[in-house]
Amino acid sequence: MNIKPLLQDPIFSKITALADAQGKEAYLVGGYVRDLILRRPTKDIDVMIVGSGIEFAKSLAGEMGGKTNLVIYKNFGTALVQSGSTAIEFVGARKESYDRDSRKPVVENGTKEDDLQRRDFTINALAASLNATTFGEVTDMFGGAADIDKKCIRVPNDPDVTFSDDPLRMMRAIRFASQLNFRIEDGTYDGITRNCERITIVSQERITDELNKILLSPKPSAGFKLLFNTGILSLIFPNLVKLEGVETRNGKGHKDNFYHTLQVVDNISTKTNDLWLRWAAVLHDIAKPATKRFNNKSGWTFHGHELKGSKMVPGIFRELRLPLNEKMKFVQKMVLLHLRPIALAKEEVTDSGVRRLLFDCGEDVESLMILCEADITSKNEYKVKKFLKNFENVRRKLKDVESRDKIRNWQPPVTGEMIMQTLNLRPGREVGILKVAIREAILNGEIENDKDQAVKFMLSKAKELGIKS
Ligand code: CTP
Repeated sequence: MNIKPLLQDPIFSKITALADAQGKEAYLVGGYVRDLILRRPTKDIDVMIVGSGIEFAKSLAGEMGGKTNLVIYKNFGTALVQSGSTAIEFVGARKESYDRDSRKPVVENGTKEDDLQRRDFTINALAASLNATTFGEVTDMFGGAADIDKKCIRVPNDPDVTFSDDPLRMMRAIRFASQLNFRIEDGTYDGITRNCERITIVSQERITDELNKILLSPKPSAGFKLLFNTGILSLIFPNLVKLEGVETRNGKGHKDNFYHTLQVVDNISTKTNDLWLRWAAVLHDIAKPATKRFNNKSGWTFHGHELKGSKMVPGIFRELRLPLNEKMKFVQKMVLLHLRPIALAKEEVTDSGVRRLLFDCGEDVESLMILCEADITSKNEYKVKKFLKNFENVRRKLKDVESRDKIRNWQPPVTGEMIMQTLNLRPGREVGILKVAIREAILNGEIENDKDQAVKFMLSKAKELGIKS
């Protein structure tokens, strides 16, 4: 195979000239070659030099001069050359061997073949020559090009050795399958199942990085099902696995909340690439197992799962080393409010209900509506149509009320300061009571979101409550 026509970046000819002048072999390797062949957008360019990658990068940067940046990562034995928007990482060809109890391989210099031998999957073990006489020629020791054709993830060596050496590769296999819509070859799949326990020696940051990539893939359920079926999911995310299964009592069952959740995640992924909204979909029903009750009349209930779920979010984020910042707060808010539009859509949609939702949700109301629409997974087409129509109604009402009342970024028209000044009050309980009373009056639609009306209301309320200055 030759991929010369795909190697258009002008920087390649500079590498060719320098490698030939120095008598060095230079190859494009890894994900870059794979993605070129797949015609996917490419990201990092990795170049393998038989010899020292750092020395080669230094001389290349020296030759290019000007605005070329060179960063050397001595500990990794790599160097990054950056010129304009192109960044290329250089590494020397290496041979790796692993010790069973350590994730740190013993690294020695090696040949091109040694280097390809140590790589995770056949589709990632391709090297394209950058030397002039062989420019674009692909070395493919394990049938990687054919596997790309067959849409197949396969380890080049014994799967038990590959996965035991670097257990994160089990998640990488699943991530690639999910990202690329590939199948994992049977031997490789069985290797993951056999070695799944080894995932526990991998750092949480690396695990979560792969989990996020799976979640950002076009159809995340594919990856999550593979994680579940291989046994990895129960080791890295037991709370999600608890959602699986259906219990039946007196002939009454409930839906399988694990597969429902995956369906919601797939639904939302057709609407948004936002990682945090996708996380909200993963976690929206997370407290269903903890709140599940059986009632002879109404069957299974999950009362309060939205509140309990939102309270579980920080613990889950901490365990998964996800950020404990406003992203987490956003996910909490989505989980907490995910039933509200449904409640609104069920009854006559009232202005005050809509105002309250806008007040509680603020800027994130559109995200919440996307989550709620994704949450409809009924097989009954009639029901789906009806729900979606109701949500359309809620959306219309939201727009309508918002344009009239401007609740979305609600700032009280009368502040605590103003209350104290007008009534000549000291800071204290009364000020708080009046503030809440004004807010409630606006949300209930008794008065408009307007300063004059709020002041008038405040004065009469103060009188009614006997608040004296
Ligand atoms: N690699 C490996 N084992 C790992 C990680 C990486 O063998 N645990 C090798 C693979 O050959 C891979 C290359 O290193 O193609 C580069 O790794 P990385 O940049 O992490 O992944 P890519 O394959 O480039 O894919 P992506 O950029 O989509 O993560």
